Amino acid sequence: MLPPPEDRLIVALDFPQADAALSLIERLDGACRWFKVGLELYLAAGEAIVTELRRRGLSVFLDLKFHDIPNTVAAAVRAAERLGVGMLTVHAAGGPAMLRAAAEAAGESAAAPLLLAVTVLTSMDSAELSSIGIEAPPAVQAQRLAKMASACGIHGYVCSAQEAAALRSGLGRQAVLVTPGIRPHGEDAGDQKRVTTPADAIDAGADYLVVGRPITRAADPAAAARAILSEIEAAISL
Ligand code: C5P
Repeated sequence: MLPPPEDRLIVALDFPQADAALSLIERLDGACRWFKVGLELYLAAGEAIVTELRRRGLSVFLDLKFHDIPNTVAAAVRAAERLGVGMLTVHAAGGPAMLRAAAEAAGESAAAPLLLAVTVLTSMDSAELSSIGIEAPPAVQAQRLAKMASACGIHGYVCSAQEAAALRSGLGRQAVLVTPGIRPHGEDAGDQKRVTTPADAIDAGADYLVVGRPITRAADPAAAARAILSEIEAAISL
């Protein structure tokens, strides 16, 4: 059973200070419940911002994309769990030993967060992959990494919605697909290369949509969030 639309939109709080992030949340006026804390905000505000979001009853996706040796990543996963986050990320490219260590660490507590393996960044296209020695197209590489993560006990994946349908058919209904690179029609893609509209992401089988700049840089963030939520709702009911 999938959560309601307002629980499927994750707003990326890519801000340089806690104040800016909290003021955006206030401007959203309760429209969204999931918020993603990434490298920029975490480095500026640390665990205090996670605690504050939790105190407000919000769900936190801690997106620090761990990628290190297995022992270090397992310890980082345990530390993130203690903060009470609902989702956290590791890079699938860290390889099987690292992914198994992360999955074991994430499974140790009763309130275990959903561990997500980042497949191929939505900012990467074939040329970017080729320059790091990967000749497979992004869709093929994303599938390969997701299958490897699945075999290591990880059941959540970050991917572009462009490959969500293929991942879903390879991994089954239980897989949780989280898709950044979302751009409503007419929005600037910025640095993102593999972008998809909210409706197309839902059609492709995404469970959660991560949206940053189309909401955080909108003149009216609440209106932008509500428009995306309506698009999600309409796509679900089709
Ligand atoms: O502003 P925008 O909507 O592009 O923000 C997307 C967010 O999702 C950013 O915080 C980015 O770090 C994150 N992300 C991504 N691609 C991934 C994983 C995470 O864009 N593969």
